[in-house]
Amino acid sequence: MRMFPNRREGMMAARNRLGLIFAMFLMLAGAACVNAIGQQATEMRTPKPPDAPRIHGPKIYGARPGHPFLYRIPCTGIRPIRFSAKHLPATLKLDRQTGIITGEAPEAHGEYVVKLEAANSHGKDSRTFKIVVGDTIGLTPQMGWNDWYTFYNRVTAKDVRSAADAMISSGMADFGYQYVDIDDCWARKPGSQDPELKGPVRDADGNILPNARFADMSGLVKYIHSLGLKAGIYSSPGPLTCARYEGSYQHEAADARRFSQWGFDLLKYDWCSYGRIAKDKTLPSFQAPYRKMGSILEGLNRDVVLNMCQYGMGDVWQWGRQAGGNSWRTTGDLGVVKGNVLPGFYSIGFSNAEHSKYAGPGGWNDPDYILIGTVGNARDMNAPARHTQLTPEEQYSYMSMWSLMAAPLFYSGDMTALDALTRNVLCNAEVVDIDQDSLGKQGRIVRKTDEEFILAKPLADGSLAVGLFNLTTAPRSITVNWRDLGVTGRQTVRDVWRQHDLGVYATDYSTQVPVHGVELVRLIPKKRL
Ligand code: GAL
Repeated sequence: MRMFPNRREGMMAARNRLGLIFAMFLMLAGAACVNAIGQQATEMRTPKPPDAPRIHGPKIYGARPGHPFLYRIPCTGIRPIRFSAKHLPATLKLDRQTGIITGEAPEAHGEYVVKLEAANSHGKDSRTFKIVVGDTIGLTPQMGWNDWYTFYNRVTAKDVRSAADAMISSGMADFGYQYVDIDDCWARKPGSQDPELKGPVRDADGNILPNARFADMSGLVKYIHSLGLKAGIYSSPGPLTCARYEGSYQHEAADARRFSQWGFDLLKYDWCSYGRIAKDKTLPSFQAPYRKMGSILEGLNRDVVLNMCQYGMGDVWQWGRQAGGNSWRTTGDLGVVKGNVLPGFYSIGFSNAEHSKYAGPGGWNDPDYILIGTVGNARDMNAPARHTQLTPEEQYSYMSMWSLMAAPLFYSGDMTALDALTRNVLCNAEVVDIDQDSLGKQGRIVRKTDEEFILAKPLADGSLAVGLFNLTTAPRSITVNWRDLGVTGRQTVRDVWRQHDLGVYATDYSTQVPVHGVELVRLIPKKRL
């Protein structure tokens, strides 16, 4: 029930309504787009960021003592922007033009509260950034890009470089996208006759060798780092990767050392042929290869995030963190899931949402990548990448669900073909803030019926992010009660995608939700006067 206990709130609500009508007019007039079928005008939900600087990204960041440190301050606004940082530990230095922080994390465990600042001729902004030096990394879910669903077994160093360039030029990095990940197919392929893939898989000392498409791995990683971005690599605990390239079995320590020497910051470790090595299907067998790699990575002198990929076997969410994982895939590959009336990401999302209580700072449930924009076909890898068949509303649902689930946010479409809608879905600072929230709670399921799905994620500032998803093929009014959400009292309800307040509500909130779409709101408790 909506109420305006005083005149000011009533006027504010009226102003908000006027603002909403004006904003809708602007969107329809200026930012409307026509979908692939060419009929329907689509609202672009995310407003254009202001010309003045706005600092985005996580407010908390884990680093191990004395290890190399690299962080590019995500910041929108017209460049040039001048950056500064108050109380930056002496072991770190900031490039004031690029906003890239480099150096080594301090040796002493502890919390270092830095104030990041950015200014240009239009204004300035600041944001608290707490560096927590200790044993735990990955305090917020990783964000970035992975090549798999675009390049499959064709990936080259050039593709990866172009993706890194596009992460900067598209502005994605300004919202916190940071990791540029190479998936399978960078190593050599035993038994292959392909001149680019064949040859000894290791050198005389047992070091794993990249294939001819990745002739200079250190150079590639250096380049990614020079942009202030981080680099990820892929291997399997089995003798072969899923695409049958060289894996790390019996070379685990040497491979981890090599990845670290090349400068990688993340390892995706994919079960694949380890199935042939594992003695049985017991928990210790599922855990063994990850425990092994987890402890090797922890012993390295750089921070390497461990992204476990074994499709949820043995209820990995219950032990992934103890095995050293910073995230663990909870399901099979999203790209091969056949949707029915609802596209496949919903079923993956529903199942990932069940494991909310296991996610938290340092370890996240991973429902796989975000497949929108121009993206390849996992069921026909040789087919050229094409534009997603998801409707814009489904795409906003996808991104909302992933953010409410505190999922790693990896885009896996073609970075060099980012269109306006794809950027609009991936780059909404308030949506990303929900994903990256410092409290690190995964949203819990409040309602799941054939028609409606509601997730609620508590945030560090005491507010609650709520996603109301319409699973039906007709627009639908969805209502949520404070009782179901576990909140009491008056709440300012904010439309997160459109970034404006909708009014003050006392007991419940109802809204019209488009077909397969979402309304994503934030409930901010009104302080008692
Ligand atoms: C699958 C994995 C995918 C991708 C692929 C590479 O097992 O789930 O994300 O990495 O292997 O071959």
